[in-house]
Amino acid sequence: MTENNSINFQREPLLTETEIKVRMAEMVLEIARDLQHEELTVIGILRGSFMFMADLVRLLYVNDIHPLIDFVFVTSYEGTESTGHLNLLRDMSLDVKDRKVLIVDDILDTGRTLKFTKEYIIEREAMEVSTCVLLDKPSRRTVPINADYVGFSINDVFVVGYGLDYNGRYRDLPYLGVIDCVEVE
Ligand code: IMP
Ligand code: MG
Repeated sequence: MTENNSINFQREPLLTETEIKVRMAEMVLEIARDLQHEELTVIGILRGSFMFMADLVRLLYVNDIHPLIDFVFVTSYEGTESTGHLNLLRDMSLDVKDRKVLIVDDILDTGRTLKFTKEYIIEREAMEVSTCVLLDKPSRRTVPINADYVGFSINDVFVVGYGLDYNGRYRDLPYLGVIDCVEVE
């Protein structure tokens, strides 16, 4: 397939399924410790968060937390470059007014998506908003925001898998891989 010929993966995963599972169990303990007795609403940012979020809420369940669950669909990327222009393509359905909200995203890169979404949910009068990302690329940050819960801090590489895509592909990989270079044919 030509599409697959145009990108190269590094052979070794950046993070294996097992490494992701182990770290997530630790993260969820932190979240559970902080939010255990709260009525929680978890809002995932589509599309990248879907796999991480699915595993995260199953771990919350193990820790006896049964949140309401919803999604917003926010997009900014084309290929490996952030366009800087954010769109709310789909709003959440739940009312977050006076609720404790945990926002979940796959990766914190420039910070624009998380900042935009956090501000949006604060505008909707949530009582308290915390944020959780699987991956953080601190060296790429252009707006001042950090997540409250971070799975892994990584270097400035473009990753795919476990929900993250390159031009819509490779979200299905159960591990995280690095795209080496992009060759236009
Ligand atoms: P930010 O707004 O620049 O922080 O970008 C956050 C969004 O960009 C994430 O929700 C991802 O969907 C996407 N993104 C950033 N870095 C990567 C990457 O390395 N691989 C895949 N998607 C990425
Ligand atoms: Mg995303």
